[in-house]
Amino acid sequence: KKTVFSAIQPSGSITLGNFLGAWRGCAAMQDEYRCIYALADLHTITVRQEPAKFRKNTLEAYALLLAFGIDVEKSLFFIQSQVPAHAQLAWVLNCYTQFGELSRMTQFKDKSAKHADNINAGLFTYPSLMAADILLYQADLVPVGIDQKQHIELARNIAERFNALYSPTFTVPEGMFPKTGAKIMSLQDPAKKMSKSDDNANGCVYVLDTPDDIMRKFKRAVTDSEARVHYAEGKDGINNLMGIYAVLTGKSYEEIEREFEGKGYGDFKEAVGQTVVEELAPIQEKFRRLIDSKDYLEACYRENAQKATAIAQRTLNKVMKKVGFLQVK
Ligand code: TYM
Repeated sequence: KKTVFSAIQPSGSITLGNFLGAWRGCAAMQDEYRCIYALADLHTITVRQEPAKFRKNTLEAYALLLAFGIDVEKSLFFIQSQVPAHAQLAWVLNCYTQFGELSRMTQFKDKSAKHADNINAGLFTYPSLMAADILLYQADLVPVGIDQKQHIELARNIAERFNALYSPTFTVPEGMFPKTGAKIMSLQDPAKKMSKSDDNANGCVYVLDTPDDIMRKFKRAVTDSEARVHYAEGKDGINNLMGIYAVLTGKSYEEIEREFEGKGYGDFKEAVGQTVVEELAPIQEKFRRLIDSKDYLEACYRENAQKATAIAQRTLNKVMKKVGFLQVK
C-alpha cells in the first residue's frame, strides 16, 4: 500500500473548503492506502493564539475529523506537537532550505501582508516544518487543496536535495489534488478562496454551522446577472456553486445544467444549500457525541502520538546519522 500523509491546522472553525478540498477525500482513501493524518498545531502558532481557545480548537478539530470518518482503526491520526520528531526534523531541514526559496512562497507573502505586526520567523519557515511532517513518514501522496501546491513542491525539492547530498533517505512525495473542489471560493467574493479568516462572515461556510446559517449563506451567495445555470468563464460564483454541488452529488456539470434548465438561481442555490446541509447533518451529530467523550478522545490521541513517534523516529535517526551528529549507542 502507498503511504498517504495530510494535515490540517486547528485554527478556529473548519470550513466547507477544508472538507471538500481535502478531508472528504482523505476519509475516502483509508481502505486503499496506508493513511497518516495529523493536526498541524505547531503551524498554528505562527499566528498568535489565545491559549484556552487554542486548546479548545485543537480538541474540537480532533473530534471533527473523527466525525468526518477518519478512522483510527484503519489510519493514524495524531497531534503534531505530541510527536517531537516534527520540530526536530524541521530544524534540520531549515538548514537545507534556502532563504530565497522561502521568500518566494506566496502564502508567506499573503500572510505577512495580513499580519504585518507579527511576521515571525516561524511564519517564514512554515514550509520546512510542513516538509518535515510529510518526509518523516516517507509519504508517497499528499492529498491537499490547490493552495498547498507550492509547499508540496518545496517539500519535494528539499527531499531531492537531501537525497542527492547524502544517499536516498526520503521518499519524494507527490501532491494529490481533487479534480473538483480543489479550491472552494468565498460565497461573497468568488475570486477569493473560502477561508476561515474571511472578513465577510457570509462568505465562509463552517462545517459546524446550523442548517439555517448554511441555507442563508447559500441563498445570499454572489452570482451574476445571466440567470442561467451553466459552467463558463466569468461566472465565478455559479462555477463555485456548481463545483460544490458536483462534489457532493457526483453529478457532472452537464447533468447539473440539465437539472436546472429553465430554473432560476434561487432554486439552484436552495438545492446546493440543501445538499450541503444533508451531507453535514450526520457529521455534526457524530461530532456532538464525540466532543462529550473527552476521555475517549484523549486515549485516542495519546495512543496515536505514540504510534506516530515510533515511525517518525526511524526517519529522524537516519537523518541525524547521515548529517553526522555524534550518536549515543
Ligand atoms: P489548512 O489547515 O489551511 O487547510 C487544510 C486543508 O484544506 C485545504 N483547503 C481548501 N481546499 C479547497 N478549497 C479551499 N477554500 C480550501 N481551504 C483550505 C488545504 O489545501 C488543506 O489541504 N499547511 C497546511 C497544513 C499542513 C499540511 C502538512 C498539509 C501542515 N503540514 C503536511 C499537508 C501535509 C494548512 O495550513 O492547511
